[in-house]
Amino acid sequence: MTNNKKLLQWVDEVAALCQPEYIYWCSGTDEEFKEMAEFMTKKGSFIKLNKNKRPNSYYAVSDPSDVARVEDRTYICSKRQEDAGPTNNWKDPEEMKTTLRGLFEGSMRGRTMYVIPFSMGPLGSKISQLGVEITDSPYVVCSMKIMTRMGSKVLDEIGENGDFVKCLHSVGFPLDEGKQDVPWPCNRTKYIVHFPEERAIWSYGSGYGGNALLGKKCFALRIASVMARDEGWLAEHMLIVGITAPWGEKKYIAAAFPSACGKTNLAMLTSTLPGWKVECVGDDIAWMKFGEDGRLYAINPENGFFGVAPGTSMKTNGNAMLSMQANSIFTNVALTDDGDVWWEGMTDEKPSHLIDWLRRSWNPQIKRAAAHPNARFTAPAKQCPVMDSEWESSKGVPISAILFGGRRSSVIPLVHEALSWNHGVFMGSMISSETTAAAIGAVGQLRHDPFAMLPFCGYNMGDYFNHWVSMGQKTEADKLPKIFYVNWFRKDENGHFMWPGYGDNIRVIKWIFERIDNKDNYKEISLGRVPVQDALDLTDLDVTEDTMKKLFTVTKEEGLREVEEMRKYYTTFAETLPQALTEQLSELEKRVEKYS
Ligand code: GTP
Ligand code: SPV
Ligand code: MN
Repeated sequence: MTNNKKLLQWVDEVAALCQPEYIYWCSGTDEEFKEMAEFMTKKGSFIKLNKNKRPNSYYAVSDPSDVARVEDRTYICSKRQEDAGPTNNWKDPEEMKTTLRGLFEGSMRGRTMYVIPFSMGPLGSKISQLGVEITDSPYVVCSMKIMTRMGSKVLDEIGENGDFVKCLHSVGFPLDEGKQDVPWPCNRTKYIVHFPEERAIWSYGSGYGGNALLGKKCFALRIASVMARDEGWLAEHMLIVGITAPWGEKKYIAAAFPSACGKTNLAMLTSTLPGWKVECVGDDIAWMKFGEDGRLYAINPENGFFGVAPGTSMKTNGNAMLSMQANSIFTNVALTDDGDVWWEGMTDEKPSHLIDWLRRSWNPQIKRAAAHPNARFTAPAKQCPVMDSEWESSKGVPISAILFGGRRSSVIPLVHEALSWNHGVFMGSMISSETTAAAIGAVGQLRHDPFAMLPFCGYNMGDYFNHWVSMGQKTEADKLPKIFYVNWFRKDENGHFMWPGYGDNIRVIKWIFERIDNKDNYKEISLGRVPVQDALDLTDLDVTEDTMKKLFTVTKEEGLREVEEMRKYYTTFAETLPQALTEQLSELEKRVEKYS
């Protein structure tokens, strides 16, 4: 237990407000996970998977209305509206607290209130941040056990006087007298609310993913991005990987792609180029600080993967498949007749019979998908066969390159390199991507998603751009990571992906590796530097010369349209937009005129 007064007082306050039947302090042990999972199984919230196929693993399906992040219900309640900025929902914090208190009042009646102390980042590391999530969802407890370092050890770390981020969560389904529980309790009313100055999170009504596992997007991105702004570091929606060349040299890179745009896949890539190796530090979030040597160092604050299931297979991401062989939770995938899981793309041949994510009988003649497109696996990072030896290092790993990317069916080349740090920041601000099933709403619509942080930046996006510009002035230029923009998703006239992607992305990474060493194998086009003829290693790859050419073509018309679109978008940020980015935009415009 704890004698931290702030924590004890907060737990009392929350209990008085939410009126749970019991309070339970999570110890974080493996036994506790098993007991909780068994309890969920008895309740009908979990199905225990066949232990011969997937030991200690569980299957859950959500309420059909609670399947992804709810961006329109997500708020940044800073004291001043301008600190939330033009891209975030905002409400006055006091007003919002009044609304929330109304909702949380009695919201845990008839339920157990779980207190989950957790650490984002390795326990005891200076770079780590501590939090406590209070929740009425045992699903959240089991998931937090996988996704964070949690339990009694964290209480010791918080100590008698230590600070922690307050994360309050309720599914908003009180069990009043006589009310029957359901397998996935939630509420039609949802609020995912951040109070950045107070470093507090209140989440109501959803039990799913980033809405409910508050250490992840809410804390490690939205709240941490505010801490990072205040303290001079970066909290980013990025994977981190180590790349080893055939001659044994290793470099680390970080990459920001929007949700469901390929981070987990790149983070554990199986190389198709002999001798090249990828090892995983993290697949979703990076915290980066300058080291004493002036280089940028990154840690992964998470302890597990909450990965998109559909499309994941031994062929596309074998290491993810091997990570989830045991001790894992599967949500909104399909259930096989022998008590295992399946989803679209997992195997070439579809099983002859399944129970789909809506609990209906399914067979291959049925056209609709058996798994929800945002179905996810929750698996311990340490089970990934290619975890990097440094993945829990409290110093972090030195970053040599930063990649930006997104889903763009046209215009954006397979890869291009920034001409300078500020040009790289411009590229980050320029990310647009087709929306995916990771958030509620239409799928496949092109939208601006600067730095893949649109849904995750806890403050004014214009100030965030400034923060990135200022980071480039904190060290010598040659110590900064080089910046690249990649696009695995360009399509041909028939709507087919032109680039094979997945393991073949190593070919692009190899060129990036060489560019970090300043190899003279590039040429300049309007957008930036691209590989010269033959600089991309296409050994044993079945892609025509014509396709390769198309993957790098940006017409003058397309270039100018991009410039116009950015000019329009930048007006959103008014006077918070850094001068450096306006300059980069005119430079781009000049290059479009020059090169086409
Ligand atoms: P979040 O967990 O939501 O942040 O997603 P993520 O960025 O980690 O995306 P993930 O790696 O899970 O990939 C999402 C989807 O994109 C999956 O269905 C993948 O199969 C698909 N995908 C990943 N990499 C590639 C690629 O190189 N090419 C193509 N065509 N699809 C890819
Ligand atoms: C994302 O949407 O970027 C995710 C999934 O990583 S969630 O944790 O639900 O936000
Ligand atoms: Mn993500």
